Amino acid sequence: MININLIDDSGLKQTLQATEGQSLMQVAVSAGVRGIVGECGGSAMCATCHVYVDDAFTDQLPPPLETELEMLECTASERRPNSRLSCQIKLTVAQEGLVVRLPERQQ
Ligand code: FES
Repeated sequence: MININLIDDSGLKQTLQATEGQSLMQVAVSAGVRGIVGECGGSAMCATCHVYVDDAFTDQLPPPLETELEMLECTASERRPNSRLSCQIKLTVAQEGLVVRLPERQQ
């Protein structure tokens, strides 16, 4: 199991457990996390799974592909240097303890 931490825009932290190979979006949507929509089902076509990755973890994630970078231009909330699409974050044990913040809105 991999523990991941999501902090919503009010500062409320929720810790979820994931298995290797799941995407962060899948884990959040399955748990009913408010603030992650995942409208396109994970194909990098909607940007409703936008998250801000904590600085301590940004270097641990594979860099975004071109399709993700393009879709990050369509986020409803401000895009920041640590913005990622959570559907493109495939979880491995290397991400144990991952911390992400949820944007104010997704749509
Ligand atoms: S779920 Fe649509 S871009 Fe991530």
